[in-house]
Amino acid sequence: MNKEKLIVSNWKNYVANQAQAQEILDAVNDLLESRGENGELSLVFCPDESLIVSTSELLQKSHLENSAFLGAQDLLDDYPAKLQYVILGHSSKRWPTVGGGETSVSINSKIKRSLEKELTPIVCIGEKDKSVDAEDFIKNQINKTFAGLTPDQVQNCIIVYEPVWAISGNPDAHADNPEDASDKIQIIRDYIRADWDLEDDVMVLYGGSVSSDNVVEFISKENIAGVLIGRASTQKEEFSGILNKLFAMQ
Ligand code: PGA
Repeated sequence: MNKEKLIVSNWKNYVANQAQAQEILDAVNDLLESRGENGELSLVFCPDESLIVSTSELLQKSHLENSAFLGAQDLLDDYPAKLQYVILGHSSKRWPTVGGGETSVSINSKIKRSLEKELTPIVCIGEKDKSVDAEDFIKNQINKTFAGLTPDQVQNCIIVYEPVWAISGNPDAHADNPEDASDKIQIIRDYIRADWDLEDDVMVLYGGSVSSDNVVEFISKENIAGVLIGRASTQKEEFSGILNKLFAMQ
């Protein structure tokens, strides 16, 4: 790896209590301690809402630092100190199993609010169904999600290309092919750079069924700035396996 890569661990409701959170963080902490440093990896942990306060406390006591939350409005208004990131536009919020979800318009106002509060938005973009024209869908979603943002504001966002059909837990879910994901990520980077007249590209991660079997293929792509990992990051052996594979690349 010749650039720092970002690994976002999105616990969702796979981590149900503080004891489980502690086990995962202890395993990661031990791994990092045995190596002496993180190398070129930056780790962000996003617990479920009910665990935000206790996880932030656990993180402060460890060598791990960064934490995030899955953009709930009340938390955006008043979030616990020490959070640096907010995940916005995640499929669990856009398309919840019960009730109406967020739209690109509401996500847009949350991005603006997060930036005002000096949180870094990690914004998920991606088609829900495999059958649609992904390029068309993504461009349309970008236009609405980032409408009215200045180039500086867009540059301060991190984007995740996360096709919803690839997220584990959905019927027939499987990771995108790394080549295809890299192509879509290039489309996102080029489109945003041209539309907002940016000097540098935005950071774009890949998300959707990342595991110890495929993580190296995604991370090896020059244009993929990191990965957003759900389920596999909540299984401590599997997550340690992922991190070990990434360390072996350095
Ligand atoms: P997954 O989840 O890695 O379990 O597919 C990703 C996510 O929902 O952010």
